[in-house]
Amino acid sequence: MKKTLAMLTGLAMAFSLTACGGSTTAATTAAAAETTAAAQTEAEKAPETEAEKSGNDKLVVGFAQIGQESGWRDAETNDVQWYAARNTDTIELTFADAQQKQENQIKAIRNFIEMGVDVIVFPPVVETGWEAVLTECQEAGIPVILVDRGIDASAGDDLYTTMIASDHVWAGEQAAIVMNDLLGGKGKVVELEGTVGASAAVQRKKGFDEYIAANCPDIEILDSQTGDFTRSMGKEVMESFLKTYDDIDAVFCHNDDMALGAIEAIKEAGKKPGEDIKIIGVDGVKGAFEAILAGEMNCTVECTPILAEQIFETAAKLKNGETVDKWIMSADGVYTSDKVTQEVVDGRQY
Ligand code: AHR
Repeated sequence: MKKTLAMLTGLAMAFSLTACGGSTTAATTAAAAETTAAAQTEAEKAPETEAEKSGNDKLVVGFAQIGQESGWRDAETNDVQWYAARNTDTIELTFADAQQKQENQIKAIRNFIEMGVDVIVFPPVVETGWEAVLTECQEAGIPVILVDRGIDASAGDDLYTTMIASDHVWAGEQAAIVMNDLLGGKGKVVELEGTVGASAAVQRKKGFDEYIAANCPDIEILDSQTGDFTRSMGKEVMESFLKTYDDIDAVFCHNDDMALGAIEAIKEAGKKPGEDIKIIGVDGVKGAFEAILAGEMNCTVECTPILAEQIFETAAKLKNGETVDKWIMSADGVYTSDKVTQEVVDGRQY
């Protein structure tokens, strides 16, 4: 009974993390509520004894999502909830939305430990500060899958079980290679960074800046500031770059949402995005493909958010005690304008 009550408390907590977000969409809230309600029903039916409980052979997964900062993030959330909803005979998902706050992700993870889930899954909003809660997961014997972002290596690899994610350093390097081509080896660039301290931002910057420094002596990075992976901040920071510098040739954006914001700022400043100022983003969201087709953006480096199948299959293996690779790397592509047709845009999954 104690465990059933703890589970219900945990579920209520996970739901409240989702429900109190100002920017939570109705669809996400409804889906999360549905997931939670289904899990609650299971909890009410839950057997009282440990022996009976062990009869529940569903894969119980707690997913502590970062929030809803980008279209990419929504696509990842939808994929995970869609997959779980279609496999309710084998999967029980509890989903929490941390509204961009590390403290909320930590709270959600502690709830999942209390609930006794089989596997905990989360994309760390920032790289540092996870030692305590991941040690608690370890002590509880619950495997942890990091998705789409990593943690600072100095925290130690043994704090999590595996990571399913793209190679963000590679993405930054690919963006730099395309930038060099677009500028013919010479020009002035600004950079819109992702969330401060997020591995996706730190590593994309490392890949881009180091490639430019080592290979492009005539390309200058004029400025680099965070746009927090959001379209609105991408626009805001680009506006301020345009006021400060009148000679910007190109912008590298750590995600496509910020690139779409930058396009708006460039147009409002009376310049032609994609022509007067070249634009490269990361993610491969449909909006970026449409902008490339319209000639307003030059390239997007893919970073797939379609990870649900891999996440749940890996979680099932971990529940069965199998060993998996430490890093399950996504296979991503680089899309310049010559590769983007209407057919390609129509075929995008997210
Ligand atoms: O961690 C992946 C990054 O997070 C995506 O590139 C970005 O759009 C998201 O917010």
